Amino acid sequence: MPRTLFAGNWKMHKTAAETRAFVTAFLPQLAGIPAGAGIVIAPPFTALATAHEALDGSRVALGAQNVHWETQGAYTGEISIGMLQEHGVHYVIVGHSERREYFGELDRTVNLKVQALLRAGLTPIVAVGETLEERQAGRTDERVISQIREALNGIGDRDIQRLVVAYEPIWAIGTGQNCDPAEAGRVMGTIRGCIPALEDVPILYGGSMKPENVAAYMAQHHINGGLVGGASLDATSFAALIKNGTMDA
Ligand code: 13P
Repeated sequence: MPRTLFAGNWKMHKTAAETRAFVTAFLPQLAGIPAGAGIVIAPPFTALATAHEALDGSRVALGAQNVHWETQGAYTGEISIGMLQEHGVHYVIVGHSERREYFGELDRTVNLKVQALLRAGLTPIVAVGETLEERQAGRTDERVISQIREALNGIGDRDIQRLVVAYEPIWAIGTGQNCDPAEAGRVMGTIRGCIPALEDVPILYGGSMKPENVAAYMAQHHINGGLVGGASLDATSFAALIKNGTMDA
């Protein structure tokens, strides 16, 4: 797994046709980006087949934004790991704050999803982060440590070494109010330090990351890349962000 990783979380954006147009514009702009940097796009489920086909033979890996932990069954509206694998998915975002806030995602279900993904050989991108209220109450570290411990509960060290963590302060998501890079790096160091097996795991920052601020994040010791929302929707902006984030790599 690459140590430096940039993943675009498209959320509920882009049809299959728009995904194809993005990939056509995006791939030629990746020339010059160091080969060691991992690049992932996570489109909506309905665009995965098109993305898989369009990305064939490229360096860009495919991600999904959610998954169910069971292999099959009476779970209306859900998608299994096997269904994702059929479309070449290698990464799955788990525990995004929007899933937690709007769709009832719990630490317990995050844990079930992480376990199932690791069992199947996929890479979970485990997202954690505090609300503004928690930050103002001085409970940031406590919150993210609790989320990461619950998410990885019962998972052995070797498996933990196969996942990716994303720190996304909720108040910084989609607001243009990005977290101060040094503070993000500090929290990410706290996350890394709370479980020894996380020592070499990539930890991504997420929350209003842009081509203009990515270098300041990447200069932080504990920041290994980005989980990018808005700035990943435009091919030129996402390519510029990755370029600016890997300039010193
Ligand atoms: P923005 O980059 O739009 O703030 O979103 C971050 C995010 O939630 C990525 O998962």
